[in-house]
Amino acid sequence: MRIAISTGGGDAPGLNAVIRGSVLAAIHRGWECVGIRRGYDGLLDEDRVVVLDANAVRGITHLGGTILGTTNRGDPFRWRGQGADGSAIEHDRADELVAAFRRKGIDALIAIGGDGSLRIAQRLFREKGIRVVGVPKTIDNDVGGTQLTFGFDTAVQTATEAIDKVHSTAESHERVMVVEVMGRHAGWIALHSGISGSADVILMPEIPFDMSKVCEKIARREAEGRHFSIVVVAEGAAPRGGSVSLIDPEHQRLGGIGDKVAHSIQEMTGKETRSLVLGHLQRGGSPTTFDRLLGLRFGAAAVRVIADGKFGTMVALRPPTIAPISIDEALAAPKTVPLDSDTIATARDLGISLGD
Ligand code: F6P
Repeated sequence: MRIAISTGGGDAPGLNAVIRGSVLAAIHRGWECVGIRRGYDGLLDEDRVVVLDANAVRGITHLGGTILGTTNRGDPFRWRGQGADGSAIEHDRADELVAAFRRKGIDALIAIGGDGSLRIAQRLFREKGIRVVGVPKTIDNDVGGTQLTFGFDTAVQTATEAIDKVHSTAESHERVMVVEVMGRHAGWIALHSGISGSADVILMPEIPFDMSKVCEKIARREAEGRHFSIVVVAEGAAPRGGSVSLIDPEHQRLGGIGDKVAHSIQEMTGKETRSLVLGHLQRGGSPTTFDRLLGLRFGAAAVRVIADGKFGTMVALRPPTIAPISIDEALAAPKTVPLDSDTIATARDLGISLGD
């Protein structure tokens, strides 16, 4: 048995732990493993398939990033290239990919990725017969069917530490500080880091916000003698009746909502307000113990699922176990924060404004 491993889409802390878990579990069964470099690029334009043996995965559990590299522009069904005149064109190279799999003697693929990469994996399975098992990755924690994705815990830890640091400067200067965190469709990072970092306001994609409610909360604190406030806003949050803030509309890149919220607060309350964007800081660094363990568990579980012949599936955290679910189920809808969850109730009970 020869399995291939690929990492696609934005990176997340814990990717290397998944790779190690898969490789060691495969070797344990007497199988061979190869890694495809930079998403599927390594099998198309370049021949960059590397042997993954025990040596290759030694000492990588604690490392951020991915030893295989990644890209979020690598869809073989819609390959972006250049036409003869230099213009951008898209074409379907999935059959070339399938041929490359055959040439390399690859029997099954472990595709580690978020919704975009899992969608590609699902098409490779369904339309091209590639034997695929997916592993859910994203710091945003918005893949369906799994209680958690790896990378999320580390991102929340990083965001919470940043909010803690912003607190002292906000208090010294009696300012409002707005911290923009990641979270395209879901406010998991904003909610968990905001509550843990004692934010006063948390804005997330699930709850369209009303600036007057945000300012009411800041004014109430002011009246109580608390002359500073901390606002945490997810990049995908939007005002009631408004739309998300994009810095690159062509590629749908989110960004700028923190700045807009800060500007409105200063205008509406007269309080000096500053904003900062945590951005890709949240995707970097050494994974937390939780993400290391989850990554190793996902990686080893993916190999067990291959051994059981359950393809077209994704390993999902379903405490106390990790179970294969269909990739269709995982992709049915982004997993957003349930508004009736106890975490939302906790935020409200603590007096945190959710902007509604
Ligand atoms: O999916 C994770 C994520 O971190 C999103 O929250 C964010 O919008 C996106 O990746 C940014 O990715 P990149 O800058 O790599 O395109």
